[in-house]
This record gives sequence, structure tokens and C-alpha cells, in this order.
Amino acid sequence: MSDQQIDSSKRTWIIASSCAGAVGTGFAAVPFVASFQPSERARAAGAAVEADISGLKPGEKMTVEWRGKPVWIVRRTEAQLAELPKLDKALADPNSKRTNFAETPEYARNEWRSIKKEYLVVVGICSHLGCSPSDKFVPGPQPSLPNDWEGGFLCPCHGSTFDMAGRVFKDKPAPDNLEVPPYMFLSDTRLIIGEDKKA
Ligand code: FES
Repeated sequence: MSDQQIDSSKRTWIIASSCAGAVGTGFAAVPFVASFQPSERARAAGAAVEADISGLKPGEKMTVEWRGKPVWIVRRTEAQLAELPKLDKALADPNSKRTNFAETPEYARNEWRSIKKEYLVVVGICSHLGCSPSDKFVPGPQPSLPNDWEGGFLCPCHGSTFDMAGRVFKDKPAPDNLEVPPYMFLSDTRLIIGEDKKA
């Protein structure tokens, strides 16, 4: 193998890694899927997954895998929820009406984009080119964000920003909000992702 080939393959890996962002190595699509056992393959193909949210504190996020994608569950604070209605004018699709990327389920077509106000459930993949946005929950001025930032997510690849409901801000490369997957609560502390009452 020549030096040229080594450099070229390294470069590909570096680009893929940086674009994966917060997805992490566990979600690196092709090599990971290829090593699945049959039951894992079935899970990646679409089986619903359960999440225990009993340990999730206000302001925290957990990630579960569904169909090989990271699904984020964020327990929003009262302060974060209070900011959401104030952001509508700055958002590209505040009422989740767009359907190009993924239609928002009816039960999440509200100000919080969720079944329960407190819990946001979204697929952590940017609607532009598929990078995984980073958590930027702390409000206030900081690099790559506006001075009036109220908390949300920043996609490191091309700078799209999303609020704490996964709604994309105007004039960003991402054409749509973060996807809300089908889900429902099995109890106050358990939810299932990949199934809802209509399924
Ligand atoms: S992939 Fe997110 S802004 Fe381009």
C-alpha cells in the first residue's frame, strides 16, 4: 500500500468521525451494522426499544439506539420550557408543519413537540446532511452561537442550531426540525420508542 493510499484512507476516517459528532463510535453506521448478531440485526431493522427514564434528572439527556440511530430523551427544566414559546419568530417551522424530512407525529405537534411537556424525545441526527448535533444547554453567549442563545443543540458540521424542542432556527442549512420518532409512555418512568398508539 502506498503512502498516498494510507493518507487517503485516514482522511476519510477523520471526516467520518468528525461528522458523527455526539453519535459516538457505537453509531458509526456501516462497520457497526456489519458486525451485528441476528437479534441485533432485527433490532436495527426496526424493533421498538424501551427506555427507563427513572434516573433522568431535570436538565439531563440520555440516548437510546433505535433502528441504528441515536434517540435523545431530554428532561427539560421549567426554565427551558418557559423559553420555548418566545422563540417562534426565530424558528423556521415553529409548529412542525413541514414534512420533507420527517413528519412530526400529531401528539408532538405542539409547543413542546412532545407528549409530556417535560420530556423531549427526538432522533439526534441533523436534517441537513446527517451529522449529530451537540448539546448546548447552557444559555448565553458562547462560540458559534448567538448572544441571545437560550439553550438547545448546535450541529458542528455546518452550524445549524435547534432549540430545546429540536426546532431548527431560520436561515440555517438544516431544512427541518429534528425528527420525533413514534413513541409512547408505558408508565411514568418507562417509554417505548418505535411504537405509538396508532401502530
Ligand atoms: S449536517 Fe447539520 S448543519 Fe450540515
